[in-house]
Amino acid sequence: MGLVKSLARDALSILSEHRTRAALRMKHPRALISRDVKVVGDPGRISLGDGVSIFGPSSIFVLDGGGLTGSQLEIGEQTYIGEFANIRTAGTRIKIGAHCLLAQAVTVVGSNHGTRAGSWVDDQPWSGDGVVIEDGVWVGAQSVIVAGARIGAGAVIAANSVVRGEVPPDAVMAGSPARQVGQRK
Ligand SMILES: CC(C)(COP(=O)(O)OP(=O)(O)OC[C@H]1O[C@@H](n2cnc3c(N)ncnc32)[C@H](O)[C@@H]1OP(=O)(O)O)[C@@H](O)C(=O)NCCC(=O)NCCS
Repeated sequence: MGLVKSLARDALSILSEHRTRAALRMKHPRALISRDVKVVGDPGRISLGDGVSIFGPSSIFVLDGGGLTGSQLEIGEQTYIGEFANIRTAGTRIKIGAHCLLAQAVTVVGSNHGTRAGSWVDDQPWSGDGVVIEDGVWVGAQSVIVAGARIGAGAVIAANSVVRGEVPPDAVMAGSPARQVGQRK
């Protein structure tokens, strides 16, 4: 591709990201979305409570694909999302409750690529039913929350954990895969 075409493509992509972020800010004037948060997808499918803060650089992709068409992102009031977050609905619903604290470099993904042998992973349909993180959850830095995770209210996820499946309310979870190492009292 020629230099001019390449620059034009970059400019269009920056403009489109800027427009999406601006639309999201207009829709949620009481949320803080820093300037270096990349938002890709339909802002109409994103709902942010009052006092939500999302710090960048971070990426938020609310896109359908792989045969899944239900992308929705809900973030409850006063929830804080730290730098280098990577949140991808991937055709599903991701709900993050109120008063949650997602530390730096947390990934949340709502579906998986198919992994059957014999065809390319990127040719296979996606599967998954999103992620639910209930109110008051603290997710430690560099943790990954995979499709199907249901994290109960008040749970604590230790730094660098990989969370799948059910997490009881107020549980302290650590490791990959995360196991319960304690209970808040
Ligand atoms: C989860 C956390 C809060 C636990 O702290 P704590 O209550 O003092 O618990 P302890 O250090 O006594 O650890 C309890 C057990 O969990 C294990 N554990 C704690 N953190 C762990 C981690 N990140 N990975 C694996 N295991 C971990 C400990 O080894 C210990 O296991 P043991 O009982 O077999 O010895 C803390 O370890 C943590 O990960 N904090 C997140 C920090 C962070 O990401 N901050 C970002 C800014 S908000």
